Amino acid sequence: MTRDGDRDTTSGMAERPGRFVVLEGIDGAGTTTQAARLVDRLRREGKATVRATREPSDGPIGSLVRQVLTGRIVAPGGRAPGWATMALLFAADRMDHVESDIEPVLAEGGIVVSDRYDASSLAYQSVSSGSGGERAVEWIRQLNRHALRPDLTIVVDLPPDAAAARRASRGEPAQLYEQNETQRALALFYRDLARHMPDDRITVVDGAGSVDEVHERIFAAYRQLEG
Ligand SMILES: Nc1ncnc2c1ncn2[C@@H]1O[C@H](COP(=O)(O)OP(=O)(O)O)[C@@H](O)[C@H]1O
Ligand SMILES: [Mg+2]
Repeated sequence: MTRDGDRDTTSGMAERPGRFVVLEGIDGAGTTTQAARLVDRLRREGKATVRATREPSDGPIGSLVRQVLTGRIVAPGGRAPGWATMALLFAADRMDHVESDIEPVLAEGGIVVSDRYDASSLAYQSVSSGSGGERAVEWIRQLNRHALRPDLTIVVDLPPDAAAARRASRGEPAQLYEQNETQRALALFYRDLARHMPDDRITVVDGAGSVDEVHERIFAAYRQLEG
């Protein structure tokens, strides 16, 4: 697999034995719930190594990013870092995440299920960049051009109002990016994700309905990967 120059356009499936699956969606869409369900299902089906992971990761840079997102770290004056700084932090975390948690599992033929990956950077940092959305997408894409490509990215698609209701029932304080207007723009971006990541395999799954119903849709999408 090429790791330098342009974005790797091969799926990597032929070169590596493992499977790398990513769940994406707006806040409250259910990615965390569904990533856990998918991991449970794969383990019950007897897959030897199934690793659940997430971005921001649990590594040192991911922990820093989480503190920024929850407002525990702010610059003087209370301002959150700008979109480009956030994109750089997320990209650095991703590099560390791939090296520390993802590649070792794939190398031994395991399955990695990540709750978010670089589509989140494309979506969140470009939407929060304001006017230069398309330029920001390109900038962020370049920044992540060395990032290992997933075999499959599943977008859990839920209308922003329904996602907001689920977030409210979760009962946690709102994080950076959780304003309703931002979430509406993110939902549009995610529906159009394939246009922004033309070389990746992306499946959009309806996130409405019970946890079980959504899980069955996601598992069916995963099965297609197994062929
Ligand atoms: N299909 C579903 N129906 C109803 N509530 C759900 C469903 N999926 C998740 N939830 C609940 O909605 C909230 C948000 O889900 P979560 O998985 O944390 O979303 P995300 O990680 O995408 O922000 C949680 O309280 C979760 O228990
Ligand atoms: Mg979550």
